Amino acid sequence: MKKGLLTAAVISITCSSAVFAHGSCETELHGYMLNIKDDMRAMSSDIKSGDNQSAVKRVDSLIGYFEKSRSETPHKFIHDDLKGAELKSQTAEYQKVVDGMIAVLKDLEGALQSGDSSKVRELLGAIGEKRNLGHSSFKDC
Ligand code: HEM
Repeated sequence: MKKGLLTAAVISITCSSAVFAHGSCETELHGYMLNIKDDMRAMSSDIKSGDNQSAVKRVDSLIGYFEKSRSETPHKFIHDDLKGAELKSQTAEYQKVVDGMIAVLKDLEGALQSGDSSKVRELLGAIGEKRNLGHSSFKDC
């Protein structure tokens, strides 16, 4: 496995301007997202140093934070004053993206356990895509 490619995949997840952008919302979800950012960085450095065992533990923690995030309401929905059917359908869309992220993380856990580095790289790319989708659709702060 080419180390440079893996490093590039890791950097694209942890160092994008979207991840470091600052906002002013003080929601529970925002707090979980900050923990997710920290866990992602720790997981990336575990993968870079070849410590897949430790990376698997970070993935477990990430899954836990996404499970908690799933039952939170994004600030955007409150700001846009969504109600009734609209709130219901947007919430379902949000939960679908969170579920997709959890599925990718579960696959990542398997790839780390079996030492399949090219699969790991592919899944890190998928995580970046889900993050971008989640943020462009539901994040307003
Ligand atoms: C690699 C995965 C992810 C990382 C590292 C990440 C990181 C972050 C960070 C650092 C913030 C706070 C931004 C700030 O302080 O300005 C944030 C906010 C937010 N993220 Fe994520 N995120 C990820 C995935 C997702 C996904 C998959 C979704 C949705 C399905 C999502 C939805 C949101 C929302 C809605 C906010 C704004 C908080 C709110 O509305 O209460 N994020 N994220």
